[in-house]
Amino acid sequence: MKMIIVKDDLEGAKLGLKIIKESLEKDALKTIGLATGSTPVSLYNLLRESDLDFSNTVSVNLDEYVGLSGDHPQSYRYFMETHLFEAKPFKKSYVPNGIADDLNKECADYEKIIEENPVNLQVLGIGANGHIGFNEPGASFDSVTRVVDLVPETIEANSRFFKSIHEVPKKAISMGIKTILKSDKIVIFAYGTNKASAIKKMLENDITEEVPATILKKHSDVTVIVDEDAATLLNQ
Ligand code: PGA
Repeated sequence: MKMIIVKDDLEGAKLGLKIIKESLEKDALKTIGLATGSTPVSLYNLLRESDLDFSNTVSVNLDEYVGLSGDHPQSYRYFMETHLFEAKPFKKSYVPNGIADDLNKECADYEKIIEENPVNLQVLGIGANGHIGFNEPGASFDSVTRVVDLVPETIEANSRFFKSIHEVPKKAISMGIKTILKSDKIVIFAYGTNKASAIKKMLENDITEEVPATILKKHSDVTVIVDEDAATLLNQ
């Protein structure tokens, strides 16, 4: 893993933009994997303002809440439309449908979409509990896209976006860990002291399903971009 410590999320976003730009120029970046949450907001701000052209790039998002339609303001489809896609259209943008009648079929179809559009570059955040996507502690490293239960600490962490914690969905559709690992290149971002413990575990612990992000050590091309706060617990 290549680790880069930056001053803050704007510096992290600038690096992310550079990596995406290089990927577009060198490898045509056919498919990019995208994430939601607070972490990628600074990157999406820069992408929106950039002159990068994604009209030949497909995007696939990591996850979506079960039970929220794409026009629900807290759905990840809505997040992506407002933070990125409206200003910067892609050739095609896939986000799982959290209100599909048959969720298992939706998951299988989504996995097929990723098989047909292998991800060249995956943007990731990390949960304070070490989750990637919505692959919570204990998720199998062999997992593919499926319906998952969110753990109480994730529901609590994400309640900041909802009027009350009771409105936070308890299930989501998430790309699996095996799915994520198929990406050619992964860039994982983490900002703030509340991510410091997860970053320390990811980099310094043995690989364990109890800390899903530890599996990234097995991938051959991972760049970790953290700010100084998220790096505070690392042994240097
Ligand atoms: P955050 O979420 O960017 O909102 O902190 C990251 C994650 O849970 O993966």
